[in-house]
Amino acid sequence: MTRRTLVAAAPAVLLAQGPSDELRVAFIGVGSRGSGLLAAMLKAKGARVIAIADLDEAHRNAAAARVSDAGQSKPALYADFRKMLDEHKEIDAVVIATPVDTHKMIAIATLEVGKNVYLEKPVALNPSECAQVEVAAKSAKGILQLGFQLRHDPARAASMAHLRSGALGKVIYLHAHRHTGDLPHTSDWYFDKKRSGDIIVEQACHIIDLMVWAAGGPPATAYGSGGINLLKDDPKGRSILDNYSVIYEWVDGKRFNFSQLYFDPPGFSGIKERVYAEKGAVDLATGTVYHLDKSPNTKLDFAPGDSTLLALEAFLDNARGKKLPLNNVTSARQSTLVAIMGRTSIYEKRVVKWSEIA
Ligand SMILES: NC(=O)c1ccc[n+]([C@@H]2O[C@H](COP(=O)([O-])OP(=O)(O)OC[C@H]3O[C@@H](n4cnc5c(N)ncnc54)[C@H](O)[C@@H]3O)[C@@H](O)[C@H]2O)c1
Repeated sequence: MTRRTLVAAAPAVLLAQGPSDELRVAFIGVGSRGSGLLAAMLKAKGARVIAIADLDEAHRNAAAARVSDAGQSKPALYADFRKMLDEHKEIDAVVIATPVDTHKMIAIATLEVGKNVYLEKPVALNPSECAQVEVAAKSAKGILQLGFQLRHDPARAASMAHLRSGALGKVIYLHAHRHTGDLPHTSDWYFDKKRSGDIIVEQACHIIDLMVWAAGGPPATAYGSGGINLLKDDPKGRSILDNYSVIYEWVDGKRFNFSQLYFDPPGFSGIKERVYAEKGAVDLATGTVYHLDKSPNTKLDFAPGDSTLLALEAFLDNARGKKLPLNNVTSARQSTLVAIMGRTSIYEKRVVKWSEIA
């Protein structure tokens, strides 16, 4: 942009940030993730949080205090999200951060009344629910953006742009692990696979989303194995895995080797997201390129930034302009289905084909 076009564009930029463009935002679910999203939303320009729904009164009140502390008026508080939507027709955009088994029902109800929706990942629990959300989104007045915020992370976005540029040749192999301690024992639903979709769908879908993005589409097959080797009945009734590995294969022979476990001693292995191409490999989380010709590693050029804030700013912009989000329902459904494909393989101890799931 020349100095002249920059000056010419200035009034439009100012207008875009003015009060007339302010979006009235509501939240449904302000537990752990919802309160993080709320804190980020309160930093984003051009949004005012006017209403909050959560079944838990303490969560509602804590969220309301956060809004007031940020200098905005106290939001209207509801236990019943439908009542909130009914009584506040002026709401422009809704952020949904509730347990996975409620995603389909809440997202569809919110899209049906014309709101722009930011729905936390994964899309839903199973292929049929995911399809229903996609159908609702495609005929909705508002936009639907999914909470795969890592696509907005500057290091990962720069890594992906570098891979797309072809500088390293074709992507040939992907490797990731998510080795951590157990989930916090604060929410019962995390540990119930019928409510969370199990850890590959509820947690690992972020990494799977990045790898499907890097690979350029979904794999043809998955084969996985997993179980509960340490955290049996911890917490009581636990039905989610505490470890698994899965290998995904694409028709061109690329494969993605992934493992997740919850008994990693602090500082031992952690989280890695690595993509290998013909001339080298990229560490997505740091934006570092390693070259097969043994030339020195290079750090990609990007400005640091908070992926959640960037994702919410993109959401507000997409909602204003009715633009297709980077994390749209089609890409997010595909990533959720790839996670479901891995889960099916682990549960049924067999190779699962993409054509069975999608
Ligand atoms: N994008 C990320 O990095 C990220 C990180 C963590 C969690 N998540 C996702 O965010 C969502 C919420 O996870 P969490 O860790 O915040 O869970 P949580 O248990 O801490 O919070 C869920 C909140 O939803 C409320 N709730 C449940 N059912 C409701 C309903 N019908 N109406 C209104 N409120 C309802 C609960 O009372 C609770 O306050 C999940 O989809 C999870 O996968 C995303």
